Amino acid sequence: MDGRAEDGGRVYQASGDQHINEQHHHYGRDGVAPGGPDSVRRPAVGRLPVVLRDRGEVMERLRASVGADRVGEVFVLYGMGGAGKTAVACALFEEVTAAEGRVGLWVNAADRASLRAGMLAVAADRGADDAELLAARNGLRPAADLVWRYLDRSAEPWLLVLDNTDDPEILRDGSWLRTSPRGTVLVTTRRAAAHWWPGAELQHIGVLPREDAALVLRDLAPNCGTTEQAARVADRLGRLPLALTLAGGFLSHQVLDPWTMDSYGDRLDAPDPAGPRQPVGGAARRRSGHRGGRCAALPACGVRPAARP
Ligand SMILES: Nc1ncnc2c1ncn2[C@@H]1O[C@H](COP(=O)(O)OP(=O)(O)O)[C@@H](O)[C@H]1O
Ligand SMILES: [Mg+2]
Repeated sequence: MDGRAEDGGRVYQASGDQHINEQHHHYGRDGVAPGGPDSVRRPAVGRLPVVLRDRGEVMERLRASVGADRVGEVFVLYGMGGAGKTAVACALFEEVTAAEGRVGLWVNAADRASLRAGMLAVAADRGADDAELLAARNGLRPAADLVWRYLDRSAEPWLLVLDNTDDPEILRDGSWLRTSPRGTVLVTTRRAAAHWWPGAELQHIGVLPREDAALVLRDLAPNCGTTEQAARVADRLGRLPLALTLAGGFLSHQVLDPWTMDSYGDRLDAPDPAGPRQPVGGAARRRSGHRGGRCAALPACGVRPAARP
C-alpha cells in the first residue's frame, strides 16, 4: 500500500521496503449493526484512538447540540488532515446512538460516488422503497430530494455525519446539504471557508496541547519513556494526532529491539544517512529486497506534519 499524508504532510522512508499495517475497525455497540456490514448505521472509519485526548470542550458543545430536542442545525468540524475530525465525529456518533436515542447515520462524502451511494443508503434506512431508490439511481428522480424527504419524515430523530467532505462542491452541486426538523448534520472537512457552510456552526479541530499529545504517544507505547520524554517527541511531530498515532504504533511494535522515546526523537533529529528520502510508494519501495532493521522501520512514524491549516 502507498503511504499518504494529507495537507502537504509527507511520509518518508529512509531505505528498504516500507510496511505499514492499517487495521480497520468498525465500531458499533455489540459489534452488530442493523443493515449489514456496509450499513450507514455505523462509522466506516479506520483507526480510532485508544483514548480520545483533549477534545472535551468541542465534545461538550456537540453534545449540547444534539441533546434536548435540538434539531435543524449543521455543525462543521474543520482542520488539517490528521487533526482528528473524524475521531471526534465518531465519538459523538457513538455517544448519541448509545445514550440519546437518536439514529446515527454515517456517510463518507469524500467523493461524488461515495456520497451518492451513502445518501441513498440513508434513504433506504429511513424507509424509501426499492422502486424509489431505483428511480433515483437511474436519474429518473432527484436523488437528494428523495433522501431529504425521508430524513424529514423520519420517525426517530437522527444524527447524520458527512465525513471527509474535503470537496464541498460535490455537496453543493447535488444540493445534498440541507437542514431538517428531524435531525442534526455534522460535517468533517479540511475546507474552512465560511461560504461553503452558510448557516452552519464551525468548530476548529487543531493539533493537541503538549501534554495530551504526549499522552497519545504513551497510550500507544506506555513503556518507552516518561510523559516528558514523550512530550519532546510530540513537539517534534507537531502534536498532530495522525503523526502521534503512527509514531506510537511504531514504538509499540518494536518488541524484540525496543526503542525509547529519546532514541526515537534522536533519530527524527538525525540527518538521514541514506541521503535524500523517498516518499513511501516511490522508487525506493519498488527496489527489491527488504533491508530490515531500524532504518527501514523508522519512517513509519516519520511523518512531517504540515504547518498550513
Ligand atoms: N484526540 C485524539 N486523541 C488520540 N488520538 C487521536 C485523536 N484525534 C485523532 N486521533 C488519531 O489520529 C488519527 C487521525 O485522526 P482522524 O480523525 O482520522 O483525522 P482527520 O479526520 O482530521 O483527518 C487517527 O488514527 C485517530 O485515531
Ligand atoms: Mg477524516
